[in-house]
Amino acid sequence: MKAEDVQDDIKHVLFTKEDIDAKIKELAAQIDKDYVGKEVLLVGVLKGAIMVVADLSRALSTHYTMDWMAVSSYGSGTKSSGVVRILKDLDTDLTGRDVLIVEDIIDSGLTLAWLQQNLISRGANSVEICALLRKPTCVKTDVQCKYVGWDIDPEFVIGYGLDFAERYRNLDCIATLAPHVYS
Ligand code: IMP
Ligand code: MG
Repeated sequence: MKAEDVQDDIKHVLFTKEDIDAKIKELAAQIDKDYVGKEVLLVGVLKGAIMVVADLSRALSTHYTMDWMAVSSYGSGTKSSGVVRILKDLDTDLTGRDVLIVEDIIDSGLTLAWLQQNLISRGANSVEICALLRKPTCVKTDVQCKYVGWDIDPEFVIGYGLDFAERYRNLDCIATLAPHVYS
């Protein structure tokens, strides 16, 4: 789905498909360089990170394995509660592994702060974070994100895996949502 297909629902396009492609390649180059000689386990956080994992993993040039987790931190509201529930756990034993958590966006950072601690406690050798987007609201928690695509304003964004009420994940760019959609 392209921006023109949902033109009325979008306030403005922040990053085009081309911007995203270039950014993913940049992040992959950094990650490849930092993990020479290691076999990293990419942990994608469902569902928002599916596009990032799909594109990032293909941009990486050595062997990486992949696993997925689904967590819920929001309940029914739109604000993070800090209470995280595991909806789908990893299949992989983390003992001694170098783990890279891949996320679409860090908002409060509460989900990731919890997840990082949780994966460390399972005996991983290292647990780093890669997020395509980061909002300034995450300063509330001191979650250390090693790889960040872009820092953005605290506005609600959709596309490239990011949803509003489960829609717009298949939009090929990242855009802000028009107020009439959520009000
Ligand atoms: P937090 O960092 O614990 O507040 O939660 C981050 C999660 O909330 C992300 O992984 C997204 O799934 C979701 N989220 C936060 N901000 C947005 C947004 O602007 N658009 C879509 N989903 C968002
Ligand atoms: Mg997410």
